[in-house]
Amino acid sequence: MELCVNIDHVATLRNARGTPYPEPVVAAAMVELAGAHGITVHPREDGRHIRPDDVRRIRPMTAGRFTLEMANTPANRALALEVKPDLVTLVPEKRQELTTEGGLDAARQVGAVRELVSALADAGIPTSLFIDPQRAQIEAAVAAGAAFVEFHTGRYADATTESARAAELEAIRRAVGEARAAGLRTNAGHGLHLHTTRPIARIEGIEQLHIGHGIIARAVFVGLERAVRKS
Ligand code: PXP
Repeated sequence: MELCVNIDHVATLRNARGTPYPEPVVAAAMVELAGAHGITVHPREDGRHIRPDDVRRIRPMTAGRFTLEMANTPANRALALEVKPDLVTLVPEKRQELTTEGGLDAARQVGAVRELVSALADAGIPTSLFIDPQRAQIEAAVAAGAAFVEFHTGRYADATTESARAAELEAIRRAVGEARAAGLRTNAGHGLHLHTTRPIARIEGIEQLHIGHGIIARAVFVGLERAVRKS
């Protein structure tokens, strides 16, 4: 299984002060040097973290897998066709949300998704749909011609009881089996932390995990003592 690290929140810290640092391009290089298989970025319409220009600067610096998470907008489609990521992951986007709160309702927009999937495929770019672990969404991903689905692990990661977490884990495990039986390749991610990642990583058939906030948040604590001592 591959680990693709989402570095959006390095840019969140930079944008908080309008400084040129911390520089996401440097973060991408460090993440790859540390052994990650890929870099993932998600430019949002409000530019709160990674921005289109960051995507253009990071893309040529990556040696591993480069994943562009994006909402289906004309500007994002043009950006994808320009930078040619190894994978586009299509996500829903509501301007006010703190993060991507639910999966894409692919079942309600099969036509629009299929059109984008086909335009990206013509440029040699495979598409993944970020969906909840539900059969209707898997069927829609097949109908839209997507190569991959990424199962949203947020409900699993945020579950507050052991039984709720076990039920969410089982739903993801079942959905991975169904998606693969339908010919889709499967990824997973969102909201994962050190302690919630392992059970997901044990699910047979998941190819890539996309993890951001938990790793960047941990990096602050892992590095804080050294940063203070050096100051
Ligand atoms: N996968 C997708 C499709 C996402 O949109 C995000 C957040 O940008 C992630 C994974 C990573 O989520 P987190 O930052 O909570 O690890």
